[in-house]
Amino acid sequence: MARLIDSGPGCPTPTPLRGASAAEARGLSYDDAVKAETDALYPLVQDFITPMEWPAIAPLVAAINRLKKEKNAVILAHNYMTPDIFQLVGDFRGDSLQLAREAANVDADIIVQAGVHFMAETSKILAPEKTVLIPDTRAGCSLAASITGADVRLIKEKFPNYPIVTYVNCTAEVKAECHITCTSSNAAQVVEAIAAEWNTDTVILVPDQYLAKNVAAQTGIRVMTWPGACEVHEMFSADDVEQLREAHPGVVILAHPECPPDVLEASDFAGSTSALANYVAEESPNKVVLLTECSMSDNVASANPGVNFIRPCNLCPHMKRITLENIYDCLVTGEYEVLIPEDVRIRAKQALDAMMALPKMAKPLAFKTGLKPLEIEMVV
Ligand code: 13P
Ligand code: SF4
Repeated sequence: MARLIDSGPGCPTPTPLRGASAAEARGLSYDDAVKAETDALYPLVQDFITPMEWPAIAPLVAAINRLKKEKNAVILAHNYMTPDIFQLVGDFRGDSLQLAREAANVDADIIVQAGVHFMAETSKILAPEKTVLIPDTRAGCSLAASITGADVRLIKEKFPNYPIVTYVNCTAEVKAECHITCTSSNAAQVVEAIAAEWNTDTVILVPDQYLAKNVAAQTGIRVMTWPGACEVHEMFSADDVEQLREAHPGVVILAHPECPPDVLEASDFAGSTSALANYVAEESPNKVVLLTECSMSDNVASANPGVNFIRPCNLCPHMKRITLENIYDCLVTGEYEVLIPEDVRIRAKQALDAMMALPKMAKPLAFKTGLKPLEIEMVV
């Protein structure tokens, strides 16, 4: 079960080197030039970083922003990054699909992925001529770790007549074995499109069993799946939703589709991280809770000062590997470069291209809430 406390703004994140020593250890100090470059940025993070902490953080921010210009680098920041990264150094911000589209189109020599490893691989698959860096190679994902290319080859042998859709949260090797990818922004669209293309009523969607169950309920298509789950979203339960409604009358509950189906059933709205952010911006609910990763509420709250956020705190330990400190280090050293064998990259790109070729939606597709959860078959 999720921690049903309201953690308040700026949930503490594990950044062990944070403090004056982190900047000083890198020969950076808070001088007049840094102050002039960063003063206008401080209001963006004043709810999360105290005035006392700012002189320790501003030199890193200034140095990162200078290095980006010098090296023609951009930072793609996922919605789960902490506000210091998201607000102060991210050049493009968004959900997995938006960041993938940026990687393919951005005019830069270097992409720094402020996100997890599968996202950096996606950037490299789509932009092979660019240097793609991940600041910490340990920034993984429980979904991506749950399935291998060999697993998918076995599924294909067992079910040769069904198309295999993979959620983008997987390795390049897995993408290379699948027919098409999807993200939480377009999963139902992709499953419907591939079912029509293959003239079948059955689609295999791996590796997230909950996303697959949620898509099955939306589409009416027979979806088979794999027993993977997101370690952050599987913690939320329908009981949590009930407790939140009791504790905070009138609260509007938004859920990510990696949550179990009974959570979506009990919620008011569901969609990708950007769909949740759009909902808050468009509807301005009085009181809201986002059933997703912790930092997301901080980032959406900054953009919507009139909305009252209840913040149950579930951190993604992999996303939290990325810090201002290691973003600075990776721009200085060029480590760690993400490389993919060319034969794997080309086949993985086919699966991504198949998704990108579908009609572009004006905004991420919302999942219907209130639907009865469906039991679906596993492929193993
Ligand atoms: P989004 O595509 O909704 O940003 O999701 C990515 C992710 O890892 C959610 O846990
Ligand atoms: Fe993976 Fe879940 Fe973390 Fe997203 S939140 S990166 S799905 S472990």
